[in-house]
Amino acid sequence: MTDIKKGLAGVVVDYTAISKVNPDTNSLLYRGYPVQELAATQPFEAVAYLLWNGELPTDEQLAELVAYERSHRTLDPEIIAAIDLLPLEAHPMDVVRTAVSVLGASDPAAYDNSRESDLEKSRLLFAKIPAMVAYDQRRRRGQGIVEPRDDLDYSHNFLWMTFGEEPDSVVARAFNVSMILYAEHSFNASTFTARVIASTTADLYSAVVGAIGALKGPLHGGANEAVMHIFDEIGTASNVGPWLDEALASKRKIMGFGHRVYKHGDSRVPTMKAALDTLVEHYDAQELAELYDTLEADFVSRKGIYPNLDYPSGPAYHLMGFDTLTFTPLFVAARVTGWTAHIMEQAASNALIRPLSEYNGVDERHIEGYVPDFAAT
Ligand code: SDX
Repeated sequence: MTDIKKGLAGVVVDYTAISKVNPDTNSLLYRGYPVQELAATQPFEAVAYLLWNGELPTDEQLAELVAYERSHRTLDPEIIAAIDLLPLEAHPMDVVRTAVSVLGASDPAAYDNSRESDLEKSRLLFAKIPAMVAYDQRRRRGQGIVEPRDDLDYSHNFLWMTFGEEPDSVVARAFNVSMILYAEHSFNASTFTARVIASTTADLYSAVVGAIGALKGPLHGGANEAVMHIFDEIGTASNVGPWLDEALASKRKIMGFGHRVYKHGDSRVPTMKAALDTLVEHYDAQELAELYDTLEADFVSRKGIYPNLDYPSGPAYHLMGFDTLTFTPLFVAARVTGWTAHIMEQAASNALIRPLSEYNGVDERHIEGYVPDFAAT
């Protein structure tokens, strides 16, 4: 009997030098650096450089990437036109997926899979996706586009383009932490999707579009949006018990909890929770904090299943002012750095990903008696 590994659970399929997820020590390293140290000391721009190049940038290298990112933030007219063709009700993940597709279709270098060309595309996506996400939220709110400001760093500018207000540094700092924590996580479903597409020597944009599709699912990136929907359903901390009684009785998955790799808690949660706490204090959101703590305590005590990164990220983005539907596109803006690092690593390994399957359909059989007319001619 073949040992089928459903969902590839526990299956090691390749090497990667980009990140190390260690559930035993509950740790996550990006190119050897603990993610907590990066979140505490680095701008997201430096972490993007690290993931792509394997080393933290020198001052000159960071300055060059920062200058590039700041000079490539503005959305091209064809991308704005493509977004405007989509209904306001279109899910923001569909909007960013479409906009990335248009960017790729408009790039004459799309089919140049050299590392140099792919690195250029990676930097372009890093610079453009924030403007796509920001514009889509504003158009849904009936607001006009806000042009980027090249006097602001990545996080401050993302907030500026989204809300059109001078960004608050407490918020920008928490946002920067969330981008770093969301940036990379080894062979998660969307990253593996990107690697499968890259393994066929398709272009980098096609691999990123596929990854966006995979991330949209509530079992994966869509969970941060789903966490906020759950908070809205429960309402107040006093309603957590009855709500959980009913949810668990109907076998619902509680979004923001559980993980395929971490089984005793997600290594990133303490760092994101600390960032959430700064926002709770900044906005005096004690009621939200009580609901957060009560749901976590009750669900962990009942099921022994711990929060993942999406659990603190959802309420954090809510307090920052983002629409709930915008949460997963924020994940895209961060994870595009990890996806593109993996696409370049996969391209260098030059190995088509094509697993086997065990057939369990009907036995071989042959057409007898009736022969369709067209087959007779
Ligand atoms: C991300 O892989 C990555 O690295 C992903 C990610 C990244 O950075 O890329 O970390 C980002 O995707 C985080 C996960 C976000 N998803 C959610 O929060 C959705 C809710 N979580 C579950 O769907 C679940 O925990 C998964 C899908 C995340 C992991 O599921 P597994 O490893 O396949 O485990 P399982 O579904 O087989 O669960 C084992 C048991 C089951 O009970 P039984 O059927 O055996 O009785 O635990 C139960 C599950 O029902 N369970 C849950 C649960 N998670 C697991 N029950 C209720 N609520 C949950 N959240």
